[in-house]
Amino acid sequence: MALYALGDLHLSFQTDKSMDRFGRVWKHHERKIEKYVNKTVKPEDTLVFTGDHSWGRKLEECREDLAFIERLPGRKILLRGNHDMFWDAKKTERLNEEYKGRLFFLQNNFASYGEYALVGTKGYTFEGPFYLDPWGNITGWDEAREEHAKKLVAREIERLRESFRQAEAAGYRKYIMFLHYPPTNILEETSPFTEIAEEYGVTAVVYSHCHGERRFGDSIRGMFHGINYMLVSGDYLGFHPAAVLP
Ligand SMILES: [Fe+2]
Ligand SMILES: [Fe+2]
Repeated sequence: MALYALGDLHLSFQTDKSMDRFGRVWKHHERKIEKYVNKTVKPEDTLVFTGDHSWGRKLEECREDLAFIERLPGRKILLRGNHDMFWDAKKTERLNEEYKGRLFFLQNNFASYGEYALVGTKGYTFEGPFYLDPWGNITGWDEAREEHAKKLVAREIERLRESFRQAEAAGYRKYIMFLHYPPTNILEETSPFTEIAEEYGVTAVVYSHCHGERRFGDSIRGMFHGINYMLVSGDYLGFHPAAVLP
């Protein structure tokens, strides 16, 4: 039994949104996902997809993308990404009823993995705009947007706390925390997300959303304050699922 994660599939079986123009790694990326997940993940394993599953705007435009995910091996858990328009946070229960036994939608709930609870939410990070000097150093940023971002972070922290609360009430003391957005923005060394991760003593924080060489280093990677921070964006991993726990 093993726990894997992979983010940002950006599937478009029902929409005209090819990812090919974003570089070689995205060329027929759905074939890579199929190949590498089938090679690595066993039926008894768990695989968490950390958001941005589909380009479809409504559930009916995502059916084939979700069916593709469903056909992959193992138990599949999905987190919300910023592009997952089909998934209204308030309608998570409805999705879980409809896909019961096939896909699990992680939002204001948790999943178990042995003695671990898998908790998570989309998260949020302030992404600018930043103002740069001619050498590319940040000299300022849009402060109104930063204020707005703080509100979204607070809302996401409350959703994450609910996930932790439920896991704790069910008796769990070990956690893996999943986010779609990176836990910190490029100005921060810590954030409300790293603080809650430390408060609960999570083993790992797994996130994605960052695309392209220039963005992969936007947040924490590796060990920080005793927690393993893992970036699992599909293009970062070449679409090989990352092992989170043995
Ligand atoms: Fe993405
Ligand atoms: Fe994203």
